[in-house]
Amino acid sequence: MGKFQVLDHPLIQHKLTIIRNKNCGTKVFREVADEITTLMAYDVARDMPLEDVEIETPIQKTTVKTLAGKKVAIVPILRAGIGMVDGILELIPAAKVGHIGMYRDEETLKPHEYFVKLPSDIDQRQVYVVDPMLATGGSAIMAIDALKKRGATNIKFMCLVSAPEGVKALQEAHPEIDIYTAALDERLNENGYIVPGLGDAGDRLFGTK
Ligand code: PRP
Ligand code: URA
Repeated sequence: MGKFQVLDHPLIQHKLTIIRNKNCGTKVFREVADEITTLMAYDVARDMPLEDVEIETPIQKTTVKTLAGKKVAIVPILRAGIGMVDGILELIPAAKVGHIGMYRDEETLKPHEYFVKLPSDIDQRQVYVVDPMLATGGSAIMAIDALKKRGATNIKFMCLVSAPEGVKALQEAHPEIDIYTAALDERLNENGYIVPGLGDAGDRLFGTK
């Protein structure tokens, strides 16, 4: 079974409170969602592999560490996942970015895939799938299905707010995936929204509605 981690650093909790507030406007929502993602990425990247490299400091030759092996691909689930890309690029600027388009039917809550564009070497990369909300889990499960179908094997999932129902569904569908969330909320309401949540993440990020 993969890891399930609530990354509840005080700075993350404080910033999440800012964007949960319904009075938080689009500009601040975007900026703070970015900052939370950067703080999360620091922890998510903790197991990045290192290798030895020989360099010369002004004093002498020495063997030190550098990042090795698998390179990173960030894959946001459109639309709202886009709001978590820059926050990771801040720390891992050489990462490639793929996109998976998915929308949730508001009646059935079932996700529909409408777009997939991934780096051609996705099978060689450590993939970070990002989406602010893990609600029923349908979108994350289908996005990871799409990635596996195209050869990705090393996948982590990052979200800002999750519901217990979504975590359980994702763990059942893809048990080996590591899941990182800034908060685990109480439940889903009858419309499939996370309670207390932060509302519709895509609308809040992009100022639609
Ligand atoms: C939201 C959110 C997730 C999905 C989560 O997207 O960004 O992708 O719902 O719900 P689930 O876990 O029940 O699948 P939405 O379908 O509203 O699309 P949008 O990002 O384009 O607004
Ligand atoms: N998608 C959202 O954007 N918010 C929720 O609470 C659930 C799904």
